[in-house]
Amino acid sequence: MMQFRDIEDQYVEAVVALWTACGLTRPWNDPYKDISFAREGANSTVLVGMSDDRIAATVMVGHDGHRGMLYYVAVDPALQRQGLGIEAVRAAEKWLGARGVWKVNLLVRAENEKVRGFYEKLGYEVNPVLCMARRITG
Ligand SMILES: CC(C)(COP(=O)(O)OP(=O)(O)OC[C@H]1O[C@@H](n2cnc3c(N)ncnc32)[C@H](O)[C@@H]1OP(=O)(O)O)[C@@H](O)C(=O)NCCC(=O)NCCS
Repeated sequence: MMQFRDIEDQYVEAVVALWTACGLTRPWNDPYKDISFAREGANSTVLVGMSDDRIAATVMVGHDGHRGMLYYVAVDPALQRQGLGIEAVRAAEKWLGARGVWKVNLLVRAENEKVRGFYEKLGYEVNPVLCMARRITG
């Protein structure tokens, strides 16, 4: 079992490299800003799982006072399909459970439909909801 801990300054570059290797970064999302913002609040964090002193898995987790959310669920491509992804999601659920959160939501990009089987194995279901979003630019 990996030990998960809150991200620290010295891990930020490796975490962004992992997210890039996993295809999770997008030009319109600054991962450094995402990490800083998650670290600022009491209700969110980025958990990192270490294996042989290097970062093997991550999950950004937080809640808004109602539901939990997961983002940036990622496992080093060289270490995938060994159960580390399950450990990352369970670590985030534990983090939420310790804060009284009883339901967790997550978003899967339409082009990443292939990970659906991973989440289904963990007990996640597709909810019949329409996700709407808007950038607040002023
Ligand atoms: C999704 C991801 C985190 C899974 O991590 P992982 O360590 O490979 O997953 P696990 O080994 O814990 O998988 C457990 C089980 O989930 C299922 N599973 C995992 N990846 C799967 C996939 N791509 N498609 C279907 N089922 C999958 C399998 O049943 C697997 O068990 P098995 O290997 O015995 O068949 C990893 O593939 C990853 O980092 N992907 C790139 C980033 C990404 O897309 N993240 C999700 C954003 S929503």
